[in-house]
Amino acid sequence: MKIAVFASGNGSNFQVLAEQFPNNVKFVFSDKPNAFVLKRAEALHIPRISFGLKEFPNKAAYEEEIAQNLETQQIDLIVLAGYMKIIGPTILNKYCGKIINIHPSLLPEFAGSPHAIEDSWQERTGLGVTVHYVDTGVDTGEIIAQRPVPYHDNLEKYEEKLHQIEHELYPEVVQKLIAEFEESGKQSAN
Ligand code: GRF
Repeated sequence: MKIAVFASGNGSNFQVLAEQFPNNVKFVFSDKPNAFVLKRAEALHIPRISFGLKEFPNKAAYEEEIAQNLETQQIDLIVLAGYMKIIGPTILNKYCGKIINIHPSLLPEFAGSPHAIEDSWQERTGLGVTVHYVDTGVDTGEIIAQRPVPYHDNLEKYEEKLHQIEHELYPEVVQKLIAEFEESGKQSAN
């Protein structure tokens, strides 16, 4: 199973995935040329692709360029890991059911919030992590796995624990999807 990871920022989730699935992660795409995720990818010798929406006349053209890279690499699964753009129809129509995302709350609580960690911590509800398929809504796709994160009265400590749980849960889900993909490949070969 060939995987592309999309990330806009720090890239800690990208890093654990690239370390655990070095044969599967074919490239990382970032819409932010200065994102730290690109430094992580360089250190791990994972190919990097980076360009911003502003370089294109519209979002469809931007996504068309991304889609061409996905097609060239024959990508089977897109893993969003802190990618701060909504996936539009140009990619979604081609990769429906093949895009997953990680969100730092127990969905549907705090769906669409760019600061779901702080929101859930403040309201003491929805504390946890969700991995889900991406559909046309924002954080509304089918849920694959969820894991609660215990409340801590210190936000930084809570956040630390949440990221630790993300770094366990995301590879577990990817591992399961790789196994299913390989199994279905074997069955269609028979
Ligand atoms: C994670 O908390 C993830 O849940 C959210 O964005 C953050 C990305 O962190 N979607 P990192 O860039 O992987 O460190």
